[in-house]
Amino acid sequence: MSEVLESEAWGSRQPFDLDDEVGQRINELSLQPTIDSLQAEGFGYVIPAADPEFNERLRHVIIEQCRKNGGGGANMLLDKDPVFAEVITNPKLLAVAEVMCGKGFMISQIAASIRPEGAVSIGLHADQNWTPAPFPVHNQLVTFCWATDDYNEHNGSTKIIPKSHLKRRHPTPEEVRDEPGAIPTECPAGSAVVWDGSVWHSNYPRKAPGERVVLHITYSRLALRPVECYDDLDDEWLSGQPAVMRTLLGREDFLNTTGGAYAGGMEKLGRTFVWART
Ligand SMILES: [Fe+2]
Repeated sequence: MSEVLESEAWGSRQPFDLDDEVGQRINELSLQPTIDSLQAEGFGYVIPAADPEFNERLRHVIIEQCRKNGGGGANMLLDKDPVFAEVITNPKLLAVAEVMCGKGFMISQIAASIRPEGAVSIGLHADQNWTPAPFPVHNQLVTFCWATDDYNEHNGSTKIIPKSHLKRRHPTPEEVRDEPGAIPTECPAGSAVVWDGSVWHSNYPRKAPGERVVLHITYSRLALRPVECYDDLDDEWLSGQPAVMRTLLGREDFLNTTGGAYAGGMEKLGRTFVWART
């Protein structure tokens, strides 16, 4: 029996043990400090995530989409404007997401928010809210918060409790109340804060005039159900997109299809098993 278990475990890549291809991409994009911080602290930064022109375009579209939605937020954004496809296929975000969620990871949620002066905190939580504790050794999902304006405590930035991901559980009611060891995240406009699914976080109430305009992008392991379903986006929409978009929408693995396990052939089946172990 133990022989069987050992052979089944063989081939699973352990967290932060990068294969050569991903390791090279991380180095080329100068993201090793981001990965090191995610491993040690549970969060990190992508500085910058894109150039100022792109950031301004994104900011403008977020405001437009939130207004259209009648308020401070909007989600299900992938096909609402071309900028969102560009964001979720951003090479830096993809490289970090692959380290955190393995190959074949999916887009889970694209959610924009605008928080005016006086907006309150959302409350301490771990994003792996639909995963029971103890959290698996392998991280389940990863969230990027793209700050289109300078991000700091005064502006209502994300509040993080460094190293809380090492506890691998949800915070208790007392911890939610006291937020022990919480610090503000800080980065310039056009950057992203990234945190793993286990780390405890909230946000600071905004004290500065004006509005906090951010986009939350969450990716998850292929074995976890995403928050947002884009099954209505057909091959015509996909034809104008980079190849990775098919993977991000779960079109290249065998899970959750109307045809069942064998509809995609043995190639999809095998590919999914290999991806799921990274
Ligand atoms: Fe969160």
